[in-house]
Amino acid sequence: MSVRILVYDDYAKMSAAAAEHIASRVSAQPSIVLGLATGSTPVGMYAELVELHRRAGLDFSRVTTFNLDEYCGLDADDPRSYERFMWEHLFAHVNLDRTRTHVPYGAARDPEAECMRYEEMIRAAGGIDLQVLGIGMNGHIGFNEPGSAPNSRTRVVRLAELTVEVNRAKTEAEELPAFALSMGMGTIMDAGEVMLLANGEAKADIIRQAIQGPVTPDVPASILQQHPDVTVFLDRPAAKLLKLH
Ligand code: GLP
Repeated sequence: MSVRILVYDDYAKMSAAAAEHIASRVSAQPSIVLGLATGSTPVGMYAELVELHRRAGLDFSRVTTFNLDEYCGLDADDPRSYERFMWEHLFAHVNLDRTRTHVPYGAARDPEAECMRYEEMIRAAGGIDLQVLGIGMNGHIGFNEPGSAPNSRTRVVRLAELTVEVNRAKTEAEELPAFALSMGMGTIMDAGEVMLLANGEAKADIIRQAIQGPVTPDVPASILQQHPDVTVFLDRPAAKLLKLH
């Protein structure tokens, strides 16, 4: 197993370390292709990346990004959309070339065709060098819900009821779509390197299952144990149930 586990005292330190990790990769490879995640977990990491850009001149001008997922039916400017999230937390604040930032287009008239187009764009960019992930309460990564095939590609997925409810509560939106466009497990596993972030005690059990439990599509994140280069960034509460030596 090649999962490296890093535990930090608190969320701020975890976020700073994750941002530093990305910054070192970007500095070493200015035209890197990053896979990006949404959710509350990476918010602190994005804030740190913005600081690194402002204070230390971290240069994103040649970086390409692909986000993991988007809700079906939401236009880019919908306050609930992940496109909007990325603009608020990162895109508007760093010198990314707008033509090189990608989020699946939720309002596409033909979502299946959009998924194929997205896969093709990732391939054309040379694949994802470094993929950032959060984890859902049921072990989902991106929107790959339990049962997702390990070789799945970007596709339209139906969200688990738990996912819609948890995410709705977080965004305070009245309603969220029950379908999404998401990179597949295979798309994620093709990334050269993976970072998985989790914080808070509520994630401790699913982190234990994902990192030290059996590898099973029932816990999609557990498939990452078969990836050759994964680093897990945790705060202490999220690491609580792991066996660490
Ligand atoms: C959403 C996203 C996932 C994310 C998950 C966890 O469902 N599609 O990519 O990892 O939420 O969110 P949070 O970080 O808010 O716990």
